[in-house]
Amino acid sequence: MANIPTERLGQSAQDLSRAAEILAQGGLVAFPTETVYGLGADACNDRAVARIYEAKGRPSFNPLIVHLPSVEAVKRLVIWSDAADLVARAFWTGPLTLVLPIRPDAGVSKLVTAGLETLAVRIPAAPLAQDLLAEFGGPVAAPSANTSGHISPTRAVHVQNDLTGRIDAVLDGGACSVGLESTILGLVGAPILLRPGGVTRAELAQVLGKPVATRDEAAAISAPGQIKSHYAPRAQVRLNATEWRDGESRLGFGTVECDLNLSPSADLTEAAANLFEYLHQLDARGTPTIAVSPIPDTGMGTAINDRLNRAAADR
Ligand code: TXA
Ligand code: MG
Repeated sequence: MANIPTERLGQSAQDLSRAAEILAQGGLVAFPTETVYGLGADACNDRAVARIYEAKGRPSFNPLIVHLPSVEAVKRLVIWSDAADLVARAFWTGPLTLVLPIRPDAGVSKLVTAGLETLAVRIPAAPLAQDLLAEFGGPVAAPSANTSGHISPTRAVHVQNDLTGRIDAVLDGGACSVGLESTILGLVGAPILLRPGGVTRAELAQVLGKPVATRDEAAAISAPGQIKSHYAPRAQVRLNATEWRDGESRLGFGTVECDLNLSPSADLTEAAANLFEYLHQLDARGTPTIAVSPIPDTGMGTAINDRLNRAAADR
């Protein structure tokens, strides 16, 4: 793609209408949600959606999440259900994505679903995302706003460093409060946790009143695009480090001496919010290895470990 000028937009009404105008013209706008920054395009415009894949260098078999301002807007695109209603009431707006059967008249680009009969939908909570969606007035397809395989962005500067020259605008809304991508819940048959994230499996099971299988447990049904080495910094990542080795960058958790600490008080939610920012910072030092303290595999820790395992996977 040609080197295109990337506008930096803020939170004013004028900047929001500019961002919506760019979307309407088929452009790409990175915008903050409470999870990570998304790279938004008009979900009904094939060319605009294709530009997302191009800008990210993303394999085209990986379907995208559609962002909407309200449950009414969601119901126009997917076949709603009682289970969807329960979790939507409990967790929307917020860091939860639902995969549901797509309606034949949805009008969403096939590039969004990568040819599947299902659609991933979510209503973000971040006020700036809400404002942009309301102003634009249509479904916005948005993967995380990073080059495929790079760390997900939780601040506007992460997006600028990665995608300047390849996207039309970045809407700066400060740091993302959750800092990890949304939980993805498949509700096409029995509930399946397709990706751990900001809402935990236990919370979902409680609201649904039935167990939620993991992807491994429901191996027959797969989430496409779950490439193993996905959150890769340039450095090698060494997990579960209980002692530090010479020359490593040290990412700690809990009471431990280190370069950056995800949460000195061992708070998993705080750790999630810091994860990508700290990986970015340590990666920028250029040491060959980033070592990471063990993270408890409970609650938000499951999502953190999922991202760390991807960052550490062979590539
Ligand atoms: O928090 C988030 O979800 C962020 C923000 C920007 O909203 N978005 C995000 O998008 O993480 P992305 O594209 O990086 O991840 C989308 C995931 C992929 O793993 C993809 O396989 C899955 O959603 N997905 C999308 N549509 C699907 C579908 N119909 N069935 C199963 N999985 C789907
Ligand atoms: Mg991503």
